[in-house]
Formats: sequence, C-alpha cells, structure tokens
Amino acid sequence: METSVALDFLGDLRRTHTCGELRAADEGKTVVLMGWVHRRRDHGGVIFVDLRDRWGLTQVVFHENVGERVHGRAEQVRPEYVIAVEGTVTPRGAGAVNPNLATGEVEVVAGNIWILNESRTPPFPMEEDAGVAEDVRLKYRYVDLRRPHMQRNIVLRSEIAFAIRQSLYAQGFLEIETPFMTRSTPEGARDYLVPSRVQPGHFYALPQSPQIFKQLLMVSGYEKYFQIVRCFRDEDLRADRQPEFTQIDIEMSFPQQERVFEVVEPLVVRVAEVAGFQVSAPFPRLTYAEAMRSYGSDKPDCRMPPMHEVGDLLPDLAAGNLPLMAIHIPGTGTPSRKERDELKAFGQERGLRVFDDPKRLDRDYPGPMAKVRERTGAGDNDLLLVAAWAGEPKGHRPEETVYQACGQLRLECAQKFKDKHKLLDARNFQFLWVLDFPMFEWNEEDDRWTAAHHPFTSVHDEDLDKLVNDPARCRAKSYDLVLNGVELGSGSIRIHRRDVQSKVFAALGFNEEEAHRRFGFLLDALEYGAPPHGGIALGLDRLVMILAGETSIRDVIPFPKTARGTDLMCDAPSTVPERQLRELGISIRGAK
Ligand code: AMO
Repeated sequence: METSVALDFLGDLRRTHTCGELRAADEGKTVVLMGWVHRRRDHGGVIFVDLRDRWGLTQVVFHENVGERVHGRAEQVRPEYVIAVEGTVTPRGAGAVNPNLATGEVEVVAGNIWILNESRTPPFPMEEDAGVAEDVRLKYRYVDLRRPHMQRNIVLRSEIAFAIRQSLYAQGFLEIETPFMTRSTPEGARDYLVPSRVQPGHFYALPQSPQIFKQLLMVSGYEKYFQIVRCFRDEDLRADRQPEFTQIDIEMSFPQQERVFEVVEPLVVRVAEVAGFQVSAPFPRLTYAEAMRSYGSDKPDCRMPPMHEVGDLLPDLAAGNLPLMAIHIPGTGTPSRKERDELKAFGQERGLRVFDDPKRLDRDYPGPMAKVRERTGAGDNDLLLVAAWAGEPKGHRPEETVYQACGQLRLECAQKFKDKHKLLDARNFQFLWVLDFPMFEWNEEDDRWTAAHHPFTSVHDEDLDKLVNDPARCRAKSYDLVLNGVELGSGSIRIHRRDVQSKVFAALGFNEEEAHRRFGFLLDALEYGAPPHGGIALGLDRLVMILAGETSIRDVIPFPKTARGTDLMCDAPSTVPERQLRELGISIRGAK
C-alpha cells in the first residue's frame, strides 16, 4: 500500500510521559508524547490534536509560529494516525480548563511532530458504542479494543487477575499449570478434540476444566494449588458463556467447605475493591433447598425480596400438596391491566395459575391476605402476586418445578419494572453462597441420574445410604458462589476414597469398566494415599463482566467468539487444506 503522507522513523526518539500523566505542576517541561490522534480541530491556523494512549488524552496545540514544516505536518494528520510530538507543557487559560479530563489543566504546545504511521478511516468512531453493530466491532476487534470503554474493561481484567494472584500467593497458594492436550474431563459438555498426527485416529480432548489434574496435584502433595486457566466447552452459547473461557481454579488438601470460603471471600473482596467497590464478607449462605424455596433458583438474585409460601394462609388456592407462592416486588406502583395480563400469561406458559388481582383477593380473603402482606412485607405501592401450580405434579422433586416457575415469574416481574423503579441496580453486589446441592439430577433424555456437579463430588456424610435408596434426596458437599443471579463459581469437597467413588459411579449407572475407561488414572491415584481435598472454580470472565457493569462476557474478553462460535476477525473455524487432513488420517464425510 502506498502511503498518502511521508512517514517518519521512530529512530531513537524516546517517550517522556504518557498521555494521561501531565498536570499543572509539569508546567514548562519539554516532553515527548506518542500515541493515536483521537481528534483534530483547526481553528483558523491553530491546530488542536487530542493525542491518546492507554493512559489517557492530552491536548496538543500547533500554533502558526511553530514553523511551516511542522504546521504543515500537523495539517496532514487524521484520526487514528500514530504520531509523536515534542513540546512544552503550558497551563490552559482559565476558560479552557477541561475538568472532565485528568490532563485538562494543561496542553502541550508543540515544537515538533513525527508521523509514524497513517490509518484508514476507522470503521466506527472511537468514542461511542451507540449504533455500532457487534459483528462489525468483532471483525475489526483491534480497532474496537482501542476504544476507551473497551480499554477500561481489558485493563480492569488485568488488574483483577493481578489482585487474584496477589491474594492467593499471600495465602500460600502455588500457581501450577496443567495440560491443554489431554483426555475428556468430567464437566458434562461436549469436548473440543485435537487429532493426533503421529497416532492417526486418536484424539486429545481440550480440558473442560483442570478438575482431574488439580485433584491429582493434591494426591501428589501440592496442597493449595491455583491457576488462572483457559477451559474449553462445546456447548450452546449465551451472553455469559463462551466456548473458551477463563477459570480461577483452586484446590486445597484437608479442607472443610468453610476453609474454601475463607480463601475465596477475601479474594473476592479484594477484587471488588480493585474495581472500586466495597463488599463485605462473610457472604450470606443459603442451602440449595432454601434458595429454591425462596427464589425458585439455585442462583438467586437477592437484589429483590424472596418469595414466600402462603399455602397455609390460603389453602383454597393451593394445588394439592404443592406450594402456593406469594411474589412481592417493591415500589412498582399499581401495575396496569396490560402489565398484569402479560405477567399472568408468562406464568401460565410455565404451568402456573396466577392470581394477579390482589384487590379481589383482599375482598375474598381479607384476613388471610392481611397475613400474606405481613409475611411478605408487601406495601400498598408494591406488586403482590399469588401463584399456584396449574397441572399435575411434575419431576422427581415436584415442589421444585413449582418454585422454579414462580422464580422465573419473579424475575420477569423485576425485569418489567426495573427501569421504572431502579430495581436491579448493577452496582448493588449481592454475593451469596448456595450450599448442599442435590447430588444428582434426573436426565429425562437418558432416563437416568447424572451428577449435578461432577462425579467426584462428596456426598453428605449422613446421606451416604441415600446413594442407593433415595438418590433424589441425596445432598452433595458442593457449593456455588452467586452474584446477582449469576453463577460465578462452583466447587465441592471431593471424594478421596476409592470405595466411595465406586458407589457414586454405580449410582450414576457407570459400570466399573466405563468408569475405568474414562477416569482410570484418577481412580488408580485414589489408591495411592489421596488426602481429603476440595476446591472451587470461579469464572473470571463473569466476575469481570459484572464488576465492569457489562451484560455480556464478550465485552471483557479481548478476542471472543460469536454465539455461533465464530471468530469474525480471523474467520475461524475454517476449512484446512486436503493435505493437512490426509496427514491426520481424517476425511470429511460428504466432501468431494
Ligand atoms: P463449573 O463447570 O461450574 O465447575 O465451572 C465453574 C465456573 O466457570 C464458569 N463457566 C463459564 N464461563 C464462561 N463460559 C462458559 N462456557 C462457562 N462454563 C463455566 C462459571 C462457573 O461457575 N471443575 C469444576 C469446579 C470445581 O469443582 O472445582 C467446574 O469447572 O462461572
């Protein structure tokens, strides 16, 4: 490509300050700044250039008396040109101070300019998000990442990663790497496979998490391990899911779950502080059963009040033994007829019968309704709905089906009124632990129990006999860290005894042979002095997303994939030449 302006060499020119650094106290200094032209304005012979680097913006002024050559060069620069400027730090006139800019008290009066590179017109403006389609942003990600907003997110991510390392090193943890080219791991998504050239027909699997390796490290005596590590899962993508994502992976020997919380809580408090927020620990705790009962979800959003069972107060409305729930959302005012109808329809689609007219309930059941209001704390200006199950009981834990449907209705109510009433403030961080998850989930498709967490999770000591007799009510020593309705992290105390592991595999319907084929090396390791151990993994992308005030993890990942798993910038995945396939012993079915 021919350049449209003559370019200068960097030579041994050295930057003296960043574009975010200069203050009134630097008056009179001769400085050299380097960066990108954020904006250029010509004011009758005086040229203003806002120069940008990752530390900020500085205004540079080219007066006419700077000389024809330098002034002429300044005229040539356009947005996103890369330049170096030498000049003198000068206070701005009283009326020209920009209080919104850290460097706003000063400007650099230029004496020289070097144009180091030019730029095509960028595909979208640098300042604004508004109106830029995400696929354009992703295609030109290197430009998108230059925008101050994205720079803030990526810098915050780096600062958070550093704070995590500081916190864990200070607590005596070791950072140890584990392989990416390995065997299938147990997290339950599909694997990404890597074909082996030297062993045609054989594949490595990319790890869905370092789960097995971190357990092996405990067997090997490396107590207190952590890793900030990439994981790979082929699953349906959503705003908070990427095919490759990053975990803060932690494992300890001889812990109770309390010990794990004692490590994670100060880490999270420190990370929130780095992002500019005060969070206090210890975090509240709910058992899974309580979370389901009160929020209809195992990842409750506690920025709104819980639901309440009111079947004892309004037995006429309840469906058999199934729960009757009151949903209370504060400060909504009286909903319109249309809003009520929409909420009712939403509930009906999920199997609920919604009593959406509290006035009518007040008329028909005045005494009980007064008690419902007392129990829920609902005032006159609040939304209050009562919901019952409309059909036959469903599922192995039928009450949960009702709680879940009501929980969805609760969130829908909050979404509907959130803008009007500032219900879901993104800066209100409600961390909590959810404990005692069920050990198993019923898988309708395969008609069998599957591990709710993963198959190496310990059973509650007192529930061991339920493994066989009552798997639906068998509780696991597992826990999730939840923030504002998002599962941030998940962990458990592991099984360290070979005999218990065999029982759990049996309950999951794996025979020994199948278990051995998949995880044999871990099972063998359990026979060589495995200590009691446990840990957790937190999703770094999700943590940064919430602390950055974003709603998609794509905005805190430098080079993310689209919902279809595509990297629009480098156009991956892509086909590969026939020769490369042949070397790997692979032929594509249906290919010519
Ligand atoms: P789990 O599968 O729950 O547990 O994952 C832990 C945390 O990782 C994050 N996460 C994701 N983030 C973005 N995109 C994804 N596709 C994605 N999948 C998971 C979530 C989640 O809470 N080995 C266990 C941990 C353990 O037991 O120690 C595990 O991986 O924030």
